[in-house]
Amino acid sequence: MASTIYILNGPNLNRLGIREPGIYGGATLEALEAMTRSHAETRGFAIEFRQSNHEGDLVDWLQAADDSDGVILNAGAFTHTSIALHDAIRSIRAPVVEVHLSNVFAREDFRHHSTISAVAKGVICGFGPASYILAIDALASLRDAEQ
Ligand code: DQA
Repeated sequence: MASTIYILNGPNLNRLGIREPGIYGGATLEALEAMTRSHAETRGFAIEFRQSNHEGDLVDWLQAADDSDGVILNAGAFTHTSIALHDAIRSIRAPVVEVHLSNVFAREDFRHHSTISAVAKGVICGFGPASYILAIDALASLRDAEQ
């Protein structure tokens, strides 16, 4: 049976493709889902792919991912503000990879601080949709190292 990973997307990521394409690229969230789903399959993962504009949904989904093989989390702007996401990540056993499409360190100062990086297993940013693909590979490496 394929093991499951969660790919969780936060606020405004439903606007991908329309929103600031110069920064986030032209791919829609649906295209990102299709891309990640097919790559995950090659790595033996089934995925739960979700997006919400509401912080509490992301907290609920992190908790639901407790005994999964991992979480790829693009928390959007909550990355820079959310202690609730920090605490939720600390509370679960699954490894969490923080991802960003853009290189947040090459952008405004307020994007340089993350409340979640210190409790994430690792951070990948700046590669557009490939940030998610790299995160899938990172979770596959962790899983394979455990077997
Ligand atoms: C983002 C970067 C965040 O700073 C921003 O608020 C987003 C998207 C990214 O994927 O590059 O919404 O997480």
